[in-house]
Amino acid sequence: MPDSVSSSPASPASPAVFPPAFLWGAATSAYQIEGAVREDGRTPSIWDTFSHTPGRTAGGETGDIAVDHYHRYRDDVALMAELGLTAYRFSVSWPRVQPTGRGPAVQAGLDFYRRLVDELLAHGIRPALTLYHWDLPQELEDAGGWPQRDTAFRFAEYAQLVAEALGDRVEQWITLNEPWCSAFLGYGSGVHAPGRTDPAAALRAAHHLNLGHGLAASALRAVMPARNEIAISLNSAVVRPLSPDPADLAAARRIDDLANGIFHGPLLHGAYPASLLAATASVTDWSYVHDGDTRAMHVPLDALGLNYYTPSLVSAASGSTGGPRADGHGASDHSPWPGADDVRFHQTPGERTEMGWTIDPTGLYDLVMRYTREAPGLPLYVTENGAAYDDKPDPDGRVHDPERIAYLHGHLSAVRRAITDGADVRGYYLWSLLDNFEWGHGYGKRFGAVYVDYGTLERTPKSSARWYGEAARSGVLPGV
Ligand code: FCB
Repeated sequence: MPDSVSSSPASPASPAVFPPAFLWGAATSAYQIEGAVREDGRTPSIWDTFSHTPGRTAGGETGDIAVDHYHRYRDDVALMAELGLTAYRFSVSWPRVQPTGRGPAVQAGLDFYRRLVDELLAHGIRPALTLYHWDLPQELEDAGGWPQRDTAFRFAEYAQLVAEALGDRVEQWITLNEPWCSAFLGYGSGVHAPGRTDPAAALRAAHHLNLGHGLAASALRAVMPARNEIAISLNSAVVRPLSPDPADLAAARRIDDLANGIFHGPLLHGAYPASLLAATASVTDWSYVHDGDTRAMHVPLDALGLNYYTPSLVSAASGSTGGPRADGHGASDHSPWPGADDVRFHQTPGERTEMGWTIDPTGLYDLVMRYTREAPGLPLYVTENGAAYDDKPDPDGRVHDPERIAYLHGHLSAVRRAITDGADVRGYYLWSLLDNFEWGHGYGKRFGAVYVDYGTLERTPKSSARWYGEAARSGVLPGV
């Protein structure tokens, strides 16, 4: 624990004090931590194929072993409890439960998640289960993947299998994690699995992810107790125009449609924004949106998950500085923004994390307040927020990460300010519990509150983990 940590007495009105029921969680995803990719009937997902394809990930790294959570989950849960966390967001690996993406569930795969959930509950940690964090069974990709309509129906069937097994003990359900990344990084820029670069396919994928979400949400409702919450986690972009020039404002609106409106339009309001359909007309005719799809996608949600890391700064092409793309997950010659070739992304000013992402907690505040207005009455969770730093153990073996503590303090303070201003934020999940496989970046980017030695797989809580645990125990943000 850093010497500076102190829980100075604070009154309930103090900006550092959180509501008593606020959830203090950490998040992970299956492919990034589990390893054991060939055990108990699991078959390859698109991420196994992609990471084993030369040139796709830094250093050719894969999730074959990852941090071996599949075998170490008991110790990992004990560590969460020791730190003081009250919630844990994890994802279920689809090919572990339904290896071909069709047919009955493999009980050995489900048993792993039953054991994990039982362990969490025994330690008083609330599980939040994400059904899809990007690991589509390879067989479904071979049949066309998310651009193919049938994948949405396969996803709903898989969702039902998991709900039948775990609906009695998991109350918080998240259908998809960041469908923008699945559609536009997976099928547009190709920096994520399956690595396709077809803008029309990316838009079709987005529609079928929305449809899959809606069908899955209905399937969950049908088989689960009414008390369970159904949500989705969106990486809603905070898009800011470079200047008040009308051309820059229009560019920002275009990216907002492609990043946000394309998902929250149908899911929250029952329709794709007309401006999105018009702006993408040269790429697709949207004829794959069938009668009835809008109704199927517009299933009432119990909560909305927001993942936030950094804002995006955009302009019309004339203001170009040739800055980086907003996705931040990897470079590509192909744009992840169909129909927006004339929009430029700029580096936002300020300090950056190891990902090159600018640190700006006001973006999180703005995001939370936006959805407070856009979806009044809908409870919100920050389902991911965190930072990568080049953490290294001291000679004494301890890992000090004051930058991450400052990052967490800034962003949690923004959440607290939003709550004061009327937002119904019920919890916060730090990304990530453990250092892990950061997709195309391999193991080079450490997001964990807990350090992992990739040689021995030994876990060491960083000072940020102790700081965060102190906040979780007391409901008050310690100093930095
Ligand atoms: C999010 C992903 C998560 C992790 C963080 C850094 O987009 O959901 O798996 O990669 O970024």
